[in-house]
Amino acid sequence: ESISIIGVPMDFGQMLRGVDMGPAALRYTGLIPRLRRLGHDVKDEGDIPIPVRDDPAMEGMTDHYVKEITRISHDVYKIGCRVMDQGRMPVFLGGDHAIAIGSVASVAVKEPVGLIWVDAHADFNTPRTSPSGNIHGMPLAVLTGAGYPCLVDAGHPGTKISLDNVVMIGQRDLDPGEKKRIKSSGITIFTMRDIDEQGISAIAAQIMVQFACLKRFHLSLDMDALDPIEAPGVGTPVPGGISYREAHLLMELFADSGKLGSMDLVEINPILDVANKTSKLAVELILSALGKSIL
Ligand code: ARG
Ligand code: MN
Ligand code: MN
Ligand code: MN
Repeated sequence: ESISIIGVPMDFGQMLRGVDMGPAALRYTGLIPRLRRLGHDVKDEGDIPIPVRDDPAMEGMTDHYVKEITRISHDVYKIGCRVMDQGRMPVFLGGDHAIAIGSVASVAVKEPVGLIWVDAHADFNTPRTSPSGNIHGMPLAVLTGAGYPCLVDAGHPGTKISLDNVVMIGQRDLDPGEKKRIKSSGITIFTMRDIDEQGISAIAAQIMVQFACLKRFHLSLDMDALDPIEAPGVGTPVPGGISYREAHLLMELFADSGKLGSMDLVEINPILDVANKTSKLAVELILSALGKSIL
């Protein structure tokens, strides 16, 4: 596989500092040489330039950086499109989950793609339903056409992904208005309860049935989907998450499907991490998704 690594050190989608260090942590953990050892042709596209953040003096006085995120989403979109045109597989390193507004838009230009959102959260808030106002709680809503118009129209105008082509996995922390939106949207969701009851492999099989008519899918992996015991370096940890083994199995099953066309790895905050544990796991999961197997 020809892979392009795209760093997006963007932290405007939420209030904590440090998530902009995610791409550096993943590189220091050896992501690129380890992908090459797996046999891939890997090109590091470097990091997208991000403006220096100027936090307002008083908390709660922010405009949630909508303008900054809109501009960055355009830049992510442009480089994603270029990499796709070259026939390479883009791997986007966040940064917070708002980077997916541009990344997913860029991979869905030429043909419809599936989108698998692995996350403790749904990121399906609109400005009306969001209690925090943080944009990283909104990218899935934006991509399916709801929320700030400038974000919905980032890259090119309009909805980027049809609700039928989206699957969420790992949710256990939803806001009240967000819950209502999920239910009325009819979107496919496998919460932690579903994982406990059905097992991760049965769920992966169902997803592949739903995506049978699609040639490829994009994986958007928020590291807070994992249990905080395994992935402590995230800004919004929620107990009761996906285990180390479940996560690896899910990645291996995605690799086996032969349809993984692009991915995001987001929400690693090295300042909150414990001895780089979260980045180490993230690199291992990327390797599993891209073909590393036990035997
Ligand atoms: N639902 C919460 C919010 O809207 C948390 C979102 C967390 N999102 C994330 N990408 N970690 O603020
Ligand atoms: Mn998320
Ligand atoms: Mn999350
Ligand atoms: Mn606000």
